[in-house]
Amino acid sequence: MSRLPYAKGSLLFAPMEGVTDEPYRKIIEKIYPQWDYLFTDFYRVPTVGKITSAPLLRHLGRHTMDNERVRSKTGFQILTAAQAQTLDVAQAAQSLKLHHLDLNLGCPAKKVNAHCGGSFMLTDLKLMEETARKIRDNFSGVFTAKIRLGYHDKSSFKEIVLRLIDAGVEAITIHGRTRDEMYKGHADWDAIAMAVEFSSVPIIGNGDIWSVHDVDAMFKHTGCYAVMLGRGALKTPWMAKLYKENRNKLSELHETFLHYERLKYLDEYFFELEKSYLSYGFSESNILGRFKSLSRYLFDDFDQADSVRSSFLRAPNLSDFQHSLQNLH
Ligand SMILES: Cc1cc2nc3c(=O)[nH]c(=O)nc-3n(C[C@H](O)[C@H](O)[C@H](O)COP(=O)(O)O)c2cc1C
Repeated sequence: MSRLPYAKGSLLFAPMEGVTDEPYRKIIEKIYPQWDYLFTDFYRVPTVGKITSAPLLRHLGRHTMDNERVRSKTGFQILTAAQAQTLDVAQAAQSLKLHHLDLNLGCPAKKVNAHCGGSFMLTDLKLMEETARKIRDNFSGVFTAKIRLGYHDKSSFKEIVLRLIDAGVEAITIHGRTRDEMYKGHADWDAIAMAVEFSSVPIIGNGDIWSVHDVDAMFKHTGCYAVMLGRGALKTPWMAKLYKENRNKLSELHETFLHYERLKYLDEYFFELEKSYLSYGFSESNILGRFKSLSRYLFDDFDQADSVRSSFLRAPNLSDFQHSLQNLH
């Protein structure tokens, strides 16, 4: 019997460093409540110093902690390494009564891998399994993992999944690429479909879901339990709403409609985000920096996407950024 905090067929907003902190998640949750579940960006397990629950609470956010509905829709992700204090963090999560820990085994960053963390653990399955067991034995909430297909290649993929299940994870999100592939090529959905066949725990499909049609295609192609969207969610933060409202007539959604939907939603998105970031004490230049990085995927479908995007990326201040938004209409 699955204890997962999201049902079969759910749409999950992926953990994304530099994006899915509380001020951002709060707005997504507020204006697009159709997302079934969201994740914190990864909390890096420290290697030195005494572990207390305070930094975990800061990472999750006070609003999330205090609001039962929001908390129950938010997974807490950790990224750990061979020398890091995994056990202490699992115990701190337990004392905070967090309901869900997700272990990041997919991060491809060189710095993280150099400390034997993130996707590096996919090269040392003994270390990976021991780490997962350490969390499982010290944390009674839901425990899941997020992986890539392997580090250099996919040869250990099946063993990775089976060893994680053996260590007690309750679901596995699979980004269908190896670490060496970073974001190149296409995510391998066949590998995800294969895991759905042999896995005894739910598999969450992830990688290259860019449209509502892709959401449907990932479910149909792989038979996965739920889907997770990263860059596609940044491109279309209202994707879950669009999908759920049109699930039975996806073939009727044409480009012009989607474009007008986009224009409709963009103003609200940035308006709400600005208010949220300000309320968390972000400076104007910080907000502008965030807005510019969020602009990366939002305009991909525009005619002359490059020049539209660059008008946002060049904005010297927030009011010029807002001005560029108005110019889209
Ligand atoms: C800006 C950014 C930050 C990310 N940070 C994290 C993270 O903190 N934890 C994690 O597990 N994956 C992280 N990822 C990976 C995504 O969660 C996701 O697995 C990956 O982008 C593939 O899915 P997609 O094709 O839907 O983007 C990040 C991806 C992006 C683009």
